[in-house]
Amino acid sequence: MRFVDVIEKKADGLVLSDEEIQEMIQGYTEGSIPDYQMSSMLMAILQQGMTAQEATTLAMAMMHSGDVVDLSDLPGVKLDKHSTGGVGDTTTLVVAPLVAACGGTVAKMSGRGLGHTGGTLDKLESVPGTCIEQPMDVFKDIVRKTGVAVIGQTGNLVPADKKIYALRDVTGTVRSIPLIASSIMSKKLASGADAIVLDVKTGSGAFMRTKEDAFALAKLMVDIGKLAGRRVSAVVTDMNQPLGLSVGNALEVREAVQLLSGEVSEDDPLFEVNMILGSQMLQMGNLAKDDAEARKMLKEKIADGSGLLKLKEMFKLLGGDDSYIDINKIDELVKVEQVIDVCSKEDGFVTSMEAEKIGTAAQMLGAGRATKEDVVDPAVGLIMQVRCGDQVKKGDVLAKLYVNDTKNLEESTKLIYDAVHITKELGEVEPMFYGIVTPE
Ligand code: URA
Ligand code: CA
Repeated sequence: MRFVDVIEKKADGLVLSDEEIQEMIQGYTEGSIPDYQMSSMLMAILQQGMTAQEATTLAMAMMHSGDVVDLSDLPGVKLDKHSTGGVGDTTTLVVAPLVAACGGTVAKMSGRGLGHTGGTLDKLESVPGTCIEQPMDVFKDIVRKTGVAVIGQTGNLVPADKKIYALRDVTGTVRSIPLIASSIMSKKLASGADAIVLDVKTGSGAFMRTKEDAFALAKLMVDIGKLAGRRVSAVVTDMNQPLGLSVGNALEVREAVQLLSGEVSEDDPLFEVNMILGSQMLQMGNLAKDDAEARKMLKEKIADGSGLLKLKEMFKLLGGDDSYIDINKIDELVKVEQVIDVCSKEDGFVTSMEAEKIGTAAQMLGAGRATKEDVVDPAVGLIMQVRCGDQVKKGDVLAKLYVNDTKNLEESTKLIYDAVHITKELGEVEPMFYGIVTPE
């Protein structure tokens, strides 16, 4: 097979065979297919798309480009969750321990934050001592002991994705739905879980700007899961405003501790999205028969403190100082030099927000990275004081900035004002949740 013929085939809108896709991934990973040919293929895929079968073959070929984690010696249905990246998205630190407290087995590999979105690993590391790089046997031991472990991706997981993603980044092909779906699913399949709940974000702070694209991505990932023999469901949720009020590493751990301590109200978006994700996980893990039973179980584990206890145990086994995982001590992790109020300059209603700008504001204060080499300050970030739909008066606090380094303070403040859209009349407020895509 000459690879140029395969490129032309895709450019003509034809369906590639399993062998053609497998040889492409093998050839590109080994280096026998050069970047310029792969770039051309990626552009052909962006323009012509892929069938669910092609995307599945692609995801599985990528998965087999490196190590594949075997969790089969752990008890029960192994559960994983994944979010396509958001601002103030603290769901993993809430739902993973809650599901474990309900008897689930949660084994998850997470990533770091880049740009305006946060990463679970950075949040975990904001608790002193926590080590997110763990050998596979230790990872499994933690899951056996507590039912939940969240660590960093092991070294050689899906090298094909690393190489292709880097190329997509510089060839304008990141936004292809089949390429996103196979990239995400290759890593989820390689991580070894039996059942995976995906949270596909849509809105200004998300990869998928429109609901239509978010549902298309959700459906394709569910199809890939099904064809690859895993249970996958996907929820589509809003990223037009930060999910939680806190944006920043220790600040988000603190909000997770607050939620698990019963201090976040049930009508809060962060609470609700955790219920939706947790319910899916419990149902896929055969631990609850329906949504009502699942929610009841999850709420019980908040009320009796057992979800918080799981989080504490997990931090301890990761080497972290678990004494901080306590509603009376967690504030010590967010001690900063100054807390600065950003106040409304007008009366009106918060009709919408741009989550991306809020994420960027926190990043510029030191909570996130602009480049891979940047070092994060665990304590800094911001806490939003308003939600979409709220009425505000001039002088009301929109956000509290947690600041150690004032270098970018002015720019961060400006981003908050740009991000929060205040109108005289209350406009239409987007819901937090749009729907669930299941294999049925
Ligand atoms: N996240 C991924 O892992 N891959 C993509 O292509 C997009 C988002
Ligand atoms: Ca504004």
